[in-house]
Amino acid sequence: MNRAEPLSASPQSHPVTGTAYGLGIGPGEPDLITLKAYNILQKADVIAYPALEDGVSLARQIVDTHIPKGRTEIAIRIEMGKPADPIYDAAALEIGQHLAAGKTVAVLCEGDPFFYGSFMYLYGRLADAGHSVETVPGVSSMMACAAQLGAPLAAKNDVLQVIPGPLDKDRLRTQLGNTDAAAIIKLGRHFTKVRDVINELGLTDRARYIERATLDSQKMVPLADLPADATAPYFSMILIHRRGDAWR
Ligand SMILES: C[S@@+](CC[C@H](N)C(=O)[O-])C[C@H]1O[C@@H](n2cnc3c(N)ncnc32)[C@H](O)[C@@H]1O
Repeated sequence: MNRAEPLSASPQSHPVTGTAYGLGIGPGEPDLITLKAYNILQKADVIAYPALEDGVSLARQIVDTHIPKGRTEIAIRIEMGKPADPIYDAAALEIGQHLAAGKTVAVLCEGDPFFYGSFMYLYGRLADAGHSVETVPGVSSMMACAAQLGAPLAAKNDVLQVIPGPLDKDRLRTQLGNTDAAAIIKLGRHFTKVRDVINELGLTDRARYIERATLDSQKMVPLADLPADATAPYFSMILIHRRGDAWR
């Protein structure tokens, strides 16, 4: 278990048997998985992954060609607008039953598990219940977007910010107002608001937009070149550097 012992000991209701791994599987391109994650995936008895209500899962799609046949699969269906806690409670219980039976469980995590990843909600529940749970880091979308765009994130003493698009306009202005470098994530329906703030601050010509980085459907463009009525999917990001390029 790669988690520091909790300050207050929590009751362990069962012996530690199988291990659950939160596997960072990278941002989309199947080759961007680490050898460690790939090898664990090959030996896992059970494979769990977050999915939309209809069962579609980007994480499952990313590793489709890597998953051995005949594995037990658990789709953790997240319903938009509904509380997620009961869903994670139920998923942790189901995964816990496999662990108690000595099985190895791989939980697929797009990008890196601990970079805004929902795996952390399972990690906390499983670890608190006394299960063996480990995290395998992955190539995060932020790193992948920078590489695809040819836009290094930060250099020298630059302070790099990760800014969630759902923040309100005032907070976005404050965060972006004094930024050296920023990655703005979770755009989706917040795209127009974010773009407006970037415009107000005169940063548009320093901003690059990318969606579905490293997937076949990837698109990338300077923010200034997007049409005024452009929309953005959830899997999109804007990178900004105050100097235009970090190397300048
Ligand atoms: C909940 S966060 C999860 C991040 C993920 N754990 C990681 O390490 O990349 C989801 C956000 O990451 C960004 N993202 C994830 N994959 C992406 C991709 N392939 N292309 C562009 N942005 C991506 C988007 O901003 C998206 O809204």
